[in-house]
Amino acid sequence: MENIRIPRIVRETSRAHRLKGRSVGFVPTMGSLHQGHLSLVRYAKSENDVVVVSIFVNPAQFGPNEDFAKYPRDTERDLALLEKAGVDVAFLPQADAIYPDGFLTEIRINDISDKLCGAFRPGHFSGVSTVVNKLFNIVRPDRAYFGQKDYQQAVVIRKMAEDLNMDIELVVCPTLREKDGVAMSSRNAYLDKAERAAATVLFRALTEAASAIRQGGTTPLSVTKMMHEVLAAEPLVTEVQYAGVYDIRTLDALTEFQRANLLAIALKLGTARLIDNMLIELQTEQSGK
Ligand code: PAJ
Repeated sequence: MENIRIPRIVRETSRAHRLKGRSVGFVPTMGSLHQGHLSLVRYAKSENDVVVVSIFVNPAQFGPNEDFAKYPRDTERDLALLEKAGVDVAFLPQADAIYPDGFLTEIRINDISDKLCGAFRPGHFSGVSTVVNKLFNIVRPDRAYFGQKDYQQAVVIRKMAEDLNMDIELVVCPTLREKDGVAMSSRNAYLDKAERAAATVLFRALTEAASAIRQGGTTPLSVTKMMHEVLAAEPLVTEVQYAGVYDIRTLDALTEFQRANLLAIALKLGTARLIDNMLIELQTEQSGK
């Protein structure tokens, strides 16, 4: 595995592969890798000749009171995992290679960036879109892999790629979970033992909502109420930022079920902010459409 810090060298390496007719798959990450990240690598490997993974804790996507400084970093361990996973190129840029002095550009995808997580993290999705755009321009992948775990992020990046005519196929991969249902996340490292046990409440709220929907006789409003009740019953939850049933494209709260529905939650457990989601597909007769 090549371990490269300089954007120009990654660009040249990737271009050399493409000129030889090899397809390039790309997995952008912020490191502190877990099995969720490695599952994206496996998808990328199965569909491409060459796999590039970036590790960059992107300051632009963290708010002033967020966890940029304490975000978990373990480069040695990450590189060993990537090597073992058969990654071809690890790209670990320095912050000043991505944001040199005088950097002025911001990519902003309106509307969908301001909903759900965007309402609680102003500027977050601009930070994500800007860095992903840059990484795409450096790596120039044929395909890029994102997790459904960050569903809104995938929607925002897909819109950016579509609006800006990017010639990149975006692949959204399923959420990997721990045995108890908790979605794998680098931020789970912030949880103490009691909080980690309480973190199952997100998955419980999602699965209970999903089975209620499948049984029928519910509305998005009643399911939303039920999700809030499940979350409220967990004393360690300090804030529920949102929980409910949303349109899979516009991310607006639904008043009627559709064929595909997004159940999504963001909450705080102590100081850690956790998100999770589930897509529920219905037969047409069950949905309002
Ligand atoms: P990060 O949180 O490191 O996540 C990198 C990728 O891994 C994202 O596409 C995310 O959705 C995916 N992922 C995280 N947890 C997962 C899980 N349990 N199962 C499957 N996939 C999972 O998301 C980011 O970094 C950044 O915003 C980034 C896109 C790199 C831009 O800075």
